[in-house]
Amino acid sequence: MSDKRQLNNGSIFTRRQFIRRAGAAAAAIAVTGKALGANERLGVGFIGCGGRSGAHLNTVHWLKTQANEPVEIVAACDIYRPRMRKVVDAYGVKGYMDHRELLDDPNVDVVCISTCDHHHGYQAIDAVRAGKDVYCEKPMTHWRQFELTKRLAAEVRKSGRVFQLGTQGMSDSAWHQMKKLVQDGLIGQPIHAECGFFRVGDWGERGMPIDDENIKPGPDLNWEAFLGDVPKRPFDVSRFFRWRMYEDYAGGPATDLFPHSLTSVVSILGVSFPNKVVATGGKFRYQQREVPDTFNMLIDYPEKVTIAVLGTQGNDNQGTGFRGSGKRVPIIRGWEGSLTIEGKEIVFVPAKGCDKKPQRFDIEHAEDFVEYWRKFLACCRLRQQNTLSPVDLAYHVQTALQMGMLGFRKGKVATFDAVEENIVL
Ligand SMILES: NC(=O)c1ccc[n+]([C@@H]2O[C@H](COP(=O)([O-])OP(=O)(O)OC[C@H]3O[C@@H](n4cnc5c(N)ncnc54)[C@H](O)[C@@H]3O)[C@@H](O)[C@H]2O)c1
Repeated sequence: MSDKRQLNNGSIFTRRQFIRRAGAAAAAIAVTGKALGANERLGVGFIGCGGRSGAHLNTVHWLKTQANEPVEIVAACDIYRPRMRKVVDAYGVKGYMDHRELLDDPNVDVVCISTCDHHHGYQAIDAVRAGKDVYCEKPMTHWRQFELTKRLAAEVRKSGRVFQLGTQGMSDSAWHQMKKLVQDGLIGQPIHAECGFFRVGDWGERGMPIDDENIKPGPDLNWEAFLGDVPKRPFDVSRFFRWRMYEDYAGGPATDLFPHSLTSVVSILGVSFPNKVVATGGKFRYQQREVPDTFNMLIDYPEKVTIAVLGTQGNDNQGTGFRGSGKRVPIIRGWEGSLTIEGKEIVFVPAKGCDKKPQRFDIEHAEDFVEYWRKFLACCRLRQQNTLSPVDLAYHVQTALQMGMLGFRKGKVATFDAVEENIVL
C-alpha cells in the first residue's frame, strides 16, 4: 500500500501525497466531472475495536474478499490492547493505541470510527485534518458537545473530505422515495411527522460485555484516553466496558437510538435546524443506569412542521410497525394527505377534504449495510460528498437530539438561535 506513483510531470509521490493531491483536486472534479481513480485501492483504518467495529470489519473484509471491491483493512486502534490485538491478529494489520498514530499511517486513506460517543467528534476532526475520509458511527457527538458538533460540520466542509454517519438505515430506498413524493407535492404542505424506536431490554447498556473484571489501567488500557474531555475519575471497570449506562459517555435512546429514527424523517421533510424542542422521559423501567430508558421529543421547525420522536426500552410495540434497524415506521403528514409504509409498499392516504386518490408505491429495496459501505467507498474514490448520511444532515439531526437532551436535563424548552447557530436554554 505504500507504493510510489509517477505523475505526468515526472514527479514521484508517495501514495499518501498522491491521495492528498487527489483530495485537493476535489473542487476541480466537481467542475470537470472527472473522477479520480475509480479502482483506487482504499486502505481503511478502524478506530475503536469493540462490538460495532466487528460488524464494520466483517463487511469491509467481505467486500474485499467476496465482492472484489478495491479496499483493504490496513490498521486498527483501541486504547484497550486486547481488543486491538484481536483485530491485528485476525487481519494481519498494524495496531495502535493512539488514534493520532493511526492517522499518521500513510496506508490509511479512510477511517471508521466506532469508539464511545464522546470521542467521535474529536477523532473525526483529527481525521479530516489528516486528510482522511470518515465513516463515523452515530451519534455524531456526545449530547453535551454542541460546539464540537458545529465544529465538526465546519471542519468537514472546509476539508472537502468525504463523511458518512453510521445511520445505515439511510441505505433503504423507502426514505429517498418518500422524500421525492414529498418534494413532488403529494402530501401538500408537510405539517407533522411521527417516528421513534421501541424495544425491550437494557442489554445494550447493562448487558455490554466485560472482557476482564480484573483489568487495571496501565500498558494494556489507557484510562486517561478513554476519559477524554469528561470529568476525571478513578478507573471503574463498569464505566469502561458498560459506558452506555453513564451520562458522561452516552445519552440513552435520544443519542443511541434516535439518530436512526430521526435522520430519515429530517431528510424526507428537507428541514434543517429546529426552532424549538421539548423532551420528556426518564428511568421508567431500568434503574441501574444513569441515562433514561424512555424518551420523547417534540421538535418544531421554522417551516411550520413538528416531528414527534417517541421511544422506550420498556416495550417493543412499534404501533405502526418497524423497518430496518428496529425503528418504528414513520408517518409523514401534510395538509393534503400522509405517507407511511405497509409491508413492502409506501402508502399515501389522502387527508379529509382532499380529492386526491389513495396510492401505493413499491419500495425499491430495503436497508443494506454492505451497500451502505459500498456507496461510501465509491464516494471516497470519486471525491463526492453526497454520501447516504452526509455531514450537514448529521449536524441538523444531532442539533435536534442535543436540544432534546440538554432541555430534558434542565427541565426546559430548548430554542435555537439560527443566526448564531446556538442552542438557547
Ligand atoms: N449504527 C449502529 O447500528 C450501531 C450499533 C452499535 C453501536 N454503534 C455505535 O458505535 C459506537 C461503539 O459502540 P460499541 O457497541 O462498539 O462499543 P464498545 O464499547 O463495544 O466499543 C468501543 C471501543 O472503543 C474503544 N475506545 C474507547 N475510547 C477510545 C479512544 N479514545 N480511542 C480508541 N479506542 C477507544 C473501547 O476500548 C472499545 O473497545 C457507539 O458510538 C455506538 O453508538 C452503532
